[in-house]
Amino acid sequence: MIQTDLHQCILDNLNGAVAVFDADLRLRYLNPAAEMLFGGSSRQLLGMSFNDLIMPREPVIDQLRDAIQSHHPFSKHEQIIDLYSGKEITADFTVTVLHSTFGETEVLFEIIPIDRLLRITREDALVAQQVATRDLLRGLAHEIKNPLGGIRGAAQLLERELHSEEQKEYTRVIIDEADRLQKLVNRLLGPSGMPKHQNVSVHEVIEYVRSVVEAEDLGDIVMHRDYDPSIPDIKGDPDLLIQALLNIVNNARQALGKRGNITIRTRVLRKFTISQQQHRLAVKIDVIDDGPGIPADIKDKIFYPMVTGRAEGTGLGLSIAQRLVHQHGGLIECESQPGRTVFSILLPIYKVSED
Ligand SMILES: Nc1ncnc2c1ncn2[C@@H]1O[C@H](COP(=O)(O)OP(=O)(O)OP(=O)(O)O)[C@@H](O)[C@H]1O
Ligand SMILES: [Mg+2]
Repeated sequence: MIQTDLHQCILDNLNGAVAVFDADLRLRYLNPAAEMLFGGSSRQLLGMSFNDLIMPREPVIDQLRDAIQSHHPFSKHEQIIDLYSGKEITADFTVTVLHSTFGETEVLFEIIPIDRLLRITREDALVAQQVATRDLLRGLAHEIKNPLGGIRGAAQLLERELHSEEQKEYTRVIIDEADRLQKLVNRLLGPSGMPKHQNVSVHEVIEYVRSVVEAEDLGDIVMHRDYDPSIPDIKGDPDLLIQALLNIVNNARQALGKRGNITIRTRVLRKFTISQQQHRLAVKIDVIDDGPGIPADIKDKIFYPMVTGRAEGTGLGLSIAQRLVHQHGGLIECESQPGRTVFSILLPIYKVSED
């Protein structure tokens, strides 16, 4: 059926994945986008049966056979598909039955992965919720800050008036607790002032964070790096980016406890969408650890303030990191399972003309 060079050329250059099966549902052709999606070359995959190559969770074989008989095309939306490569994707697909002039029947299968699209929609809703919660808490923190200063000052004055050590213990408790609250409130309010944007080398930021973390006793935790040296500078405030990355690396360290591995990996992404804006280039900084993973009960909430899985945690680190990265037009994502947790900081790389 794929007769002319022009047809071949069009199919080869399509961004969408296209596979053609014969009437016995054996693979006859797949375009380069489908090779990428399936994770194998034409040479390896031609001749494979539909069922071995593409395994939709909701079986479609009967529907496919009906389509071949009746010549009616059909589409399916948001299907979870287990691919031959072991990868699981969510995709829309369309099946069209073709008949060549030689009387052959072929089944054209177009598949459009939508994982990323679904994720972007979910991502936006999540970020909006996080911003709302954060703003609420910041407002509250602001209100607490002033009276707190008053309470501490009054307790200090009172302490001077007191003569009995026993009574002074009470004022000490007031002062110590006020100090603790003050620290919490300061963290809730976050760094003050506008970010000061300049050209920043991502690797300098990472190396600085590494030096800070390695200055402490890491026990048997080993830090690894896997850098893409071709990453251009980004526009940003190095201090804020250091703070964001440090919060993430510290979490990995705390999750690992005494031993384990932390890898910091950098990559360039082309044509990447962050918060509905497509960027020609973006940088991805992954912090990967082989610790126990994020506890299941807080997995969906870790970017909200005051959500913690640690007895001594305040649950602010990730919410602050997300806000700082957001101020740079970026986003933090996370994937976690026992043995492998990845926090990815995505930051746009602006061209000079986009400043
Ligand atoms: N790499 C990781 N592995 C396992 N769990 C993690 C990891 N990173 C974060 N978490 C979980 O997410 C929770 C929230 O993290 P976050 O940094 O916001 O707060 P925290 O570390 O508890 O407190 P704080 O950072 O304010 O001291 C952590 O308490 C922990 O349970
Ligand atoms: Mg933390």
